[in-house]
Amino acid sequence: MTVPTSPWWRSAVIYQIYPRSFADATGNGVGDLPGITSRLDALAELGVDAIWLSPFYRSPQNDAGYDVADYCDVDPVFGTLADADDLLAAAQARGIRVVVDLVPNHSSDQHAWFQAALAAGPGSSERARYLFRDGRGADGSLAPNNWESVFGGPAWTRVTEPDGTPGQWYLHLFDATQPDFDWTNPEVREEFRRILRFWLDRGVDGFRVDVAHGLVKKAGLPDYTPPRDADSMGGGLDDVPYWGQPEVHEIYRDWHELVSSYPGDRALCAEAWLPTIEATALWVRPGEMQQAFNFHYLQTDWDAAELRAVIAESLRAYAAVGAPSTWVLSNHDVIRHATRLALTEPIPQGWGIGPNTLERPNPTLGLRRGRAATALMLALPGGAYLYQGEELGLTEVIDIPDADRQDPTWFRTAHERYGRDGCRVPLPWTADAPAYGFSETGASWLPQPPEWADLARATQREDPASTLSLYTRLLAERHRHELGIGELEWIDGLGEDVVAFRNGNVTVVANTGTTPVPLPAGEILVASEPGVVGVLAPDTTVWLLPT
Ligand code: NOJ
Repeated sequence: MTVPTSPWWRSAVIYQIYPRSFADATGNGVGDLPGITSRLDALAELGVDAIWLSPFYRSPQNDAGYDVADYCDVDPVFGTLADADDLLAAAQARGIRVVVDLVPNHSSDQHAWFQAALAAGPGSSERARYLFRDGRGADGSLAPNNWESVFGGPAWTRVTEPDGTPGQWYLHLFDATQPDFDWTNPEVREEFRRILRFWLDRGVDGFRVDVAHGLVKKAGLPDYTPPRDADSMGGGLDDVPYWGQPEVHEIYRDWHELVSSYPGDRALCAEAWLPTIEATALWVRPGEMQQAFNFHYLQTDWDAAELRAVIAESLRAYAAVGAPSTWVLSNHDVIRHATRLALTEPIPQGWGIGPNTLERPNPTLGLRRGRAATALMLALPGGAYLYQGEELGLTEVIDIPDADRQDPTWFRTAHERYGRDGCRVPLPWTADAPAYGFSETGASWLPQPPEWADLARATQREDPASTLSLYTRLLAERHRHELGIGELEWIDGLGEDVVAFRNGNVTVVANTGTTPVPLPAGEILVASEPGVVGVLAPDTTVWLLPT
């Protein structure tokens, strides 16, 4: 199949905003929608095509907003629906599209439907919207099966019935406050059509679909034990009865039709952690979603042979279904890539890193590789996602005091796994302001490390060698040379440790090895490190133009 070059999402660079950590206009230490609106010029200057906002809906915030109590309202901590409308209008006025998060696998236990289910009791139509089951054992005191929560501990919680007796159990693949919906129930399907329409009518350009691979569970809910060191979200695992069930695709075909009935090329992007690239490509077949995060790329080491293989296989598998690849290196669930790429032992996704982790990756090496990896990614044809703060060269915050940690993973594993707080620390905007300009009062829901003063955006804007200047340049040249809609032609012969290809006019060379390599002829368009002449130092990527 030939790969078309439009619409926008085929090549867009989409910047993920994690609202609670972007900018805080109220001074309570949690970022909010007015804070984002007030900082949009910085994103226009960076040159992104779109933003994706992690959830800002009404929520008790037990999983930082991924526990939604009302899908059609804004949580007071983030603002109001009018603030959401203002943000949408202000972004779109700057030519920045807006993608919002949709969380269909589970709601909050504070959602009106779950409260009604608790009150209505076993056998009711209210309970049938969720996955309530009787317990095993004579008195029903054993969970219905052995599934574990992604955040650790059992995936079932027993309720007390309205008459005060110990009762049924409900399934929660995540926190106990995040009950899973039963997607075989037509009422659930209709409710999510309504939610999609609610946001499409307000003008959003698309949805990032949370846990898109988890909505349908295998009939009979058979027992399953994941390997001990498995990634939290199931990446790489085959035959898991709650991930990637074939029936889930029918839901997205339905959504595709609904979304396509709106003007303006709206898009759906799957957060689906699957065993292979081939399996992920099924999610972007014609008539299904437009994008699916390429987590296989995200999980690839800084190793030339592995990178060449994952890029080639991604382009092949996605092109076979007529879709672009959607590249990504960081998000709010993984160790920031400017830290991750310096690890010598992989850490399973979702486990995080903290003061007692055996390895402490070298931050200078990590950032150097992080910059080189981004320069490689942004030269690839397809769409790409950036995660807030990576353009500032932020590394994972390892030394968050235990008492400040908030990820449910930390609590549900009795502090065995640190979880994801280290990539969620609020952004530094200005070096000499309280909370580095994140909030006027100096409040910050997670403490910011002192070394972030040097990484403040305002400081980096003035420095042509900064990571921010590098990202700005990469995005500008990527647009100018239309790399997102280009085609990749491999260049061989530069050595085992080199990834090299041409995309249109631009030659891209990345050195993942430990010794410098001679560069092909060409004029340097962008380099991930300053001072590249003739040879390419380790952990560096350059874009060259013909001389
Ligand atoms: C994936 C989200 O990205 C993550 O942050 C969240 O905890 C889980 N889904 C549950 O919604």
